[in-house]
Amino acid sequence: MVKVSTPRTSWDTYRDIEVSFKVNGREVKVRVKPYERLIDVLRNKLGLLSVKEGCGRGECGACVVIMNGKLIPTCLTLAVRAEGSEILTLEGIAPEGKLHAIQKALLDTYSMQCGFCFPGVIMASKYLLDKNPDPTEDEIRDALDGNLCRCGSYLRFIKAVKLASRYIREGKIFFDESEVLR
Ligand code: FES
Ligand code: FES
Repeated sequence: MVKVSTPRTSWDTYRDIEVSFKVNGREVKVRVKPYERLIDVLRNKLGLLSVKEGCGRGECGACVVIMNGKLIPTCLTLAVRAEGSEILTLEGIAPEGKLHAIQKALLDTYSMQCGFCFPGVIMASKYLLDKNPDPTEDEIRDALDGNLCRCGSYLRFIKAVKLASRYIREGKIFFDESEVLR
């Protein structure tokens, strides 16, 4: 009897590619597989654990970061696409020991429940406020419509973004952690 062997493929046969980019102001170089997702590289190779995986298919907003000035879902982005880019994650939005106005406003409005969606909500809010420091309620709703919160904090997020907008317009962008987290 003739034995037919089917060709075998293995993901590990792909060669690593070196990718260089800037994350939170720091130059990094990482070796990645061509199929590796940016979320896995940020979390597992660079230790940026604020980047959360919720749905893994671009629907929940938990994994978003700002790359080259655009809000992108890292679960749908290949790591090789990061070559030469500048990425901002939650870890980089405020200097050491400080909280960004959006973080302070989320605490002030008691929006925090489990907190899983927070990194994505904060990055989407920052993306909005960087472009439009005085958004209307409809603009805030539009900006956050890609962020799912299983705890249902949506109305508080709107309040928080309005409050953060006020802080920012008053020039209060960063707050001391010791002043906020009592
Ligand atoms: S994990 Fe990326 S959008 Fe949900
Ligand atoms: S606070 Fe729990 S998912 Fe949003």
